[in-house]
Amino acid sequence: MVDVSASAHAALSNNETTRGVRQAPPGSMVIFGGGGDLTKRLLVPAIYNLDSAGLLSEDFSIIVVDWAEMTTEGLLEQLKGALDDFVSKRGTNATTLRQDVWNRLSQSITYLRGSFEELSTFEALKERLGERSAVFYLAVAARFFGPIVDLLGESGLADQTDTISRRVIIEKPFGADLESAKALNARLLRSLDENQIYRIDHYLGKETVQNILALRFSNGFFEPLWNRQNIDHVQITAAETVGVERRGRFYESTGAIRDMVPNHLMQLLSMVAMEAPTSFDAEAVRDEKAKVLSAIQPIDLSQVVRGQYVSGSFGVGDEAEALRGYREEPDVAMGSQTETYVAMKLRIDNWRWAGVPFYLRTGKRLRRRKTEIAIHFKQAPFALFRDTPVDKLTPNIMVLHIQPTEGVTMQFSAKVPGPSVRLGGVRMKFDYSDWFSEGPSTGYETLIYDCMIGDQTLYQRADTIEEGWRIVEPAFTQNIADKSPLCFYPGGLDGPREADELLARSGRRWLDLNN
Ligand code: BG6
Repeated sequence: MVDVSASAHAALSNNETTRGVRQAPPGSMVIFGGGGDLTKRLLVPAIYNLDSAGLLSEDFSIIVVDWAEMTTEGLLEQLKGALDDFVSKRGTNATTLRQDVWNRLSQSITYLRGSFEELSTFEALKERLGERSAVFYLAVAARFFGPIVDLLGESGLADQTDTISRRVIIEKPFGADLESAKALNARLLRSLDENQIYRIDHYLGKETVQNILALRFSNGFFEPLWNRQNIDHVQITAAETVGVERRGRFYESTGAIRDMVPNHLMQLLSMVAMEAPTSFDAEAVRDEKAKVLSAIQPIDLSQVVRGQYVSGSFGVGDEAEALRGYREEPDVAMGSQTETYVAMKLRIDNWRWAGVPFYLRTGKRLRRRKTEIAIHFKQAPFALFRDTPVDKLTPNIMVLHIQPTEGVTMQFSAKVPGPSVRLGGVRMKFDYSDWFSEGPSTGYETLIYDCMIGDQTLYQRADTIEEGWRIVEPAFTQNIADKSPLCFYPGGLDGPREADELLARSGRRWLDLNN
């Protein structure tokens, strides 16, 4: 029954070698900012997983570039520690590091010390790289994106030939508003072609996000209902239990809108709302995403609710864990106006979606960690039940669970057994883990592998990035403090009550976070 076609993920999930899955071509991965957290927590574990699955070439190497005073031996020690931690605690079936994989990896990693803003670093890198293909991963603060790419261009490191590819993966944040995103795109395109630029959004590495397209377009029964005739509204939720942790300084100038909406939430929205592409070809998929995003009206600030968490708790009684408020977090101003929660209503003006509101919400320090998309269908006509004890019908909702559980739930009505006609709400659930062996995944494996083989489908194109910023632009150009004043919500609960009112105005309500 389950037929997982040959793909990187199939190999990863089954923890087997490539059988029908293409090995990445020979080459190097150059990680700028390789001394940082992202490299240790996610990138190197992802590479370890790819290698364990036999997806890396024997001729693969990693060059870590950073400013810190460090030797290759010192770096290897840190990476080994991080990998031990990864395999013992997370994502992999094994609980100890595979020695054969670590031996191979450790022999392929070298450290290069240098400034990201000096040509001499790039000249040394060029020498070390030689005539090899390379993926340059920019795991650095956003202010270095421009300078690094300029110097990749100036040093000739970005030059490609028929046999040598040079690609650049760029982390978020990609700009801080529409103007800066456009300027960054323009700057990158001075040294690189669009087909060399891989703008990463880690949400697209999540297996269930990729599954949205499979679910919609490989089944006969969803797509015919997927439109304004049958759907009442759509809710997209990305709720987190964590606060801003040690990221106060970054978050103060960012806030929930910039941090989550133009990127992660727009990616989810475009997957759920786009038209069927003509193929899985990168351009076909990205064209459809760009089209649907371009049909979205910029946000109307009267339909935006911004919240900030104040002190609260997880749980009650003796077990309760006290939570401090955002303004008490390190590096946060006492009178900070930064939002840690946002809810909004969006309109898509096209034939499929006109009149169907899309409600988005995301926030920190909420009751539950949960990312999901809920498709609320229109109610069936009531006539049949008019003369029965049934006073209302259970709403038909299809929920795409993205994390922490992965799967799909459908909620509908069924007759309660017995002599009278009574209806009960029931749920049908598909759980990913019941059907597929769980993959040892960080979420970065597919993305990194795709870049190595030159597949841009899961990466963002310049136009979709700019569309995301265009949609939220009123938040930065209009007087948001007046039009969408900050509301406060206690940590550990459901967010501001004003967000409930946003839906209540039209008789709707959010799906319970505890659901
Ligand atoms: C990041 C944001 O991009 O995504 C973080 O900067 C946020 O603030 C994170 O916590 C959420 O990612 P995930 O995969 O945990 O949903």
